[in-house]
Amino acid sequence: MEPITNSLCRYKNFNFIAGLTTAEHIDSLQSFEIRDSDIFLVTYPKSGTIWTQQIIISICELDGGLNEYRNNLEQMPWLEYREGWEHYALRPSPRLFSSHLTPALMPPGLRDKRAKIIYVTRNPKDNIVSYYHFSRVFADLEAPKSFESFLEDYLTGNVGGSSWFDHIRAWHSSKDQYSILFLTYEDMVLDLKTAVTKICTFLGKNLSEAAIDQVVEKSTFNTMKKDSKANYKFLPEERMKGDFMRKGKIGDWKNTFTAAQSDRIDQLLQERLGDLSLTFIWE
Ligand code: A3P
Repeated sequence: MEPITNSLCRYKNFNFIAGLTTAEHIDSLQSFEIRDSDIFLVTYPKSGTIWTQQIIISICELDGGLNEYRNNLEQMPWLEYREGWEHYALRPSPRLFSSHLTPALMPPGLRDKRAKIIYVTRNPKDNIVSYYHFSRVFADLEAPKSFESFLEDYLTGNVGGSSWFDHIRAWHSSKDQYSILFLTYEDMVLDLKTAVTKICTFLGKNLSEAAIDQVVEKSTFNTMKKDSKANYKFLPEERMKGDFMRKGKIGDWKNTFTAAQSDRIDQLLQERLGDLSLTFIWE
């Protein structure tokens, strides 16, 4: 791992939070044995990861149960960050994992398309604002000097998770190799029930209408904010000085971005991802 700032280190072209993983662990993922029942949630940071965790966990709980863990982080740990719990190979099925990795770093066994991947994208302007606020309160990251300086770091990929643009491109261009469902944060905000139903169908979980309604209820912003297993308030205060559950809205970027900054993102989207014909909901 090559240190790049006080809080970030780089390995195999990807920026990790320093101190939470090792080159050996990342290398070991290349021989990680996939089970057919494994479910992977992949996101670029601040795209709705802990929200989708809650949805997937709630679906699996209602579908036949899950082993009890103290909280959603332990129930659905980050594949790349080993925070000291049991070896992943010892976990009972179905195993649930979260990850911010790019396809090149993920276990190659996923390419046999039996285990499932759910990939959630968020519009980059809200993603940037969410990431900026998070970097100010999450002690593992370096607090940005200003929004402007954070924006520069983000656009050059000098943040945890590296470049948002590269992440989106890498996953979209390798989608045929995986059994993968693409969802957007905005779709989830606008119609949570439809998003939950899509996830159930993709995972082959046949939940009743009432059970789907229960998942939706457990996954609303207000319910999650009060749910001590889901809201990440369980992280020690010296590590997390703010809230994962901050605003949970589409369009908050308008309170921070200047018109010139917004135009710059529009232009970069066109230049760097224009050929993918993605559409984003901005408000
Ligand atoms: P904001 O900072 O814009 O509020 P991640 O989990 O990938 O770190 O993403 C965190 C973002 O998801 C935060 O966005 C957080 O508020 C939002 N979020 C978490 N749970 C949510 C929910 N149930 N509904 C809407 N947004 C949610």
